[in-house]
Amino acid sequence: MIEIVAAPAKKSHPGLHIILIHEESPLAKFPGLDPSVSAAAKADGFTGQKEKAFYDPISRHLVLGLGKAKDTTLESFRRAGQAAARKSRDLNIESAVLSLPAGSDKEQAGALAEGAWLGLYKFSEAKGKPSAKDAEKKAKETEFRTLVLDGAARGAEAVLAEKRLVCEAVCLVRDLVNRGPSEKYPEKYARDVQALAKGVPGVSLKVLDKKAIAAWPMAGLMAINQGSANPPVFLHLHYKPAGKARKSVALVGKGVTFDSGGLSLKPAGSMLDMKCDMAGSATVLALGLLAAKLKLPVEVHACAPITENLPGADAIKIGDIIRYKNGRTAEMLNTDAEGRVILADGLLYAESLKPDVILDFATLTGAAIVALGMNISAVLGDDGLCARFKALGERCGESFWQLPMPDSYRSHIESKVADIKNIGNSGEAGTMAGAFYLKEFVTTKAWVHFDIAGPAFLKAEDGVNPAGGTGIPVRTVLEYLKGL
Ligand code: BES
Ligand code: MN
Ligand code: ZN
Repeated sequence: MIEIVAAPAKKSHPGLHIILIHEESPLAKFPGLDPSVSAAAKADGFTGQKEKAFYDPISRHLVLGLGKAKDTTLESFRRAGQAAARKSRDLNIESAVLSLPAGSDKEQAGALAEGAWLGLYKFSEAKGKPSAKDAEKKAKETEFRTLVLDGAARGAEAVLAEKRLVCEAVCLVRDLVNRGPSEKYPEKYARDVQALAKGVPGVSLKVLDKKAIAAWPMAGLMAINQGSANPPVFLHLHYKPAGKARKSVALVGKGVTFDSGGLSLKPAGSMLDMKCDMAGSATVLALGLLAAKLKLPVEVHACAPITENLPGADAIKIGDIIRYKNGRTAEMLNTDAEGRVILADGLLYAESLKPDVILDFATLTGAAIVALGMNISAVLGDDGLCARFKALGERCGESFWQLPMPDSYRSHIESKVADIKNIGNSGEAGTMAGAFYLKEFVTTKAWVHFDIAGPAFLKAEDGVNPAGGTGIPVRTVLEYLKGL
């Protein structure tokens, strides 16, 4: 990641000078700016409109519009940060200076940096060796390294330091999600998380292997894993703050490293993005590590059942009934509804830790995409908490919408032979059916289920979120943990 520092601009800057302005503050009045630049901007029709830009290649000025001051949000600053960083990168300059508008606050400086860091993300792990010609070209190019924020408010340094860690956590989730399924089969995933957790103060990591999972017993994780050649793992990452913890939170994340559907095999087209089906687990593990790095005064348990979902010879069959540790039995009527089946074990494990709050995260249902599209995550469970996440999300640039859980819909998962079945009524309220299944394993009142099937993995870039893994909803959940 590039360096972003708060420091006054030097008189002459060799790279690029970026100016952020609101529509009502004319560029001509910007202190020290050559009048030819504002004249050229004016001739170009630029008046500081939202998400509009004017670039003057001769004087090396980039002017970014924030729109009307009263309509400016933190998201406006994120988008501006992204535009500033990308232009700087494309110009192959080493550093750029960005002047914040007079009177901006430290949160706005933080949002700007966040937009720059998140907007420069590229998944590069899988890129091969460049051709000799490309390597030669690259060697000649200067790499963009530093963005200097001029006029940042007091206290911005601390905000930037925190934002950097947050953006690293978001980008970690993106990397894990974008990685191919054979690069993150359960045991390999566990080793990678072990390496990430090593040496982080306050963090311990428990890795349950197949034997320990069978002994617990985690019936759902064992069942879904049956069709796979790779054994499952269950990860429990624990962050305990040095002082007394204000609250204890258990985060549970779905870790299906590849979802073929199992015997209820998906058609080829529906399988294309199914390496993303471990996004929930990556979210909770990254959040546990992030809480530790930020030394938050809350205890965090990140719990993740991890397996592939494949139709091997030993695969769980349609009509099979499994018995969970709490005695509940569940009829497997569609092996492609595997997420809820393994999350149930994660929730029972989380309950055993007796936390104050339980939040679970899963790319659980295509129905969530049908209901809310790609850019809004569904939240279900405690009404007060759901409202809180919706409000926090608005500030963070991540969107949430609550779906109801009317008592009468519990009947959708009633089974003729077992206590429950793992699908609801075909074509009806699929996201809620998933949530009702999970609810059978939760007794903690403060519980929210996040169905992130859409936002966790995008087909096309959306603002600071790239196509592919996005790291949603790490930023919003961190804000929640900070507020505890
Ligand atoms: N992992 C999928 C859900 C999904 C779909 C995530 C699209 C991301 C994008 C999940 O395991 C699944 O297959 N769900 C089924 C449930 C159904 C069989 C009740 C679905 O949504 O079709
Ligand atoms: Mn599935
Ligand atoms: Zn799945």
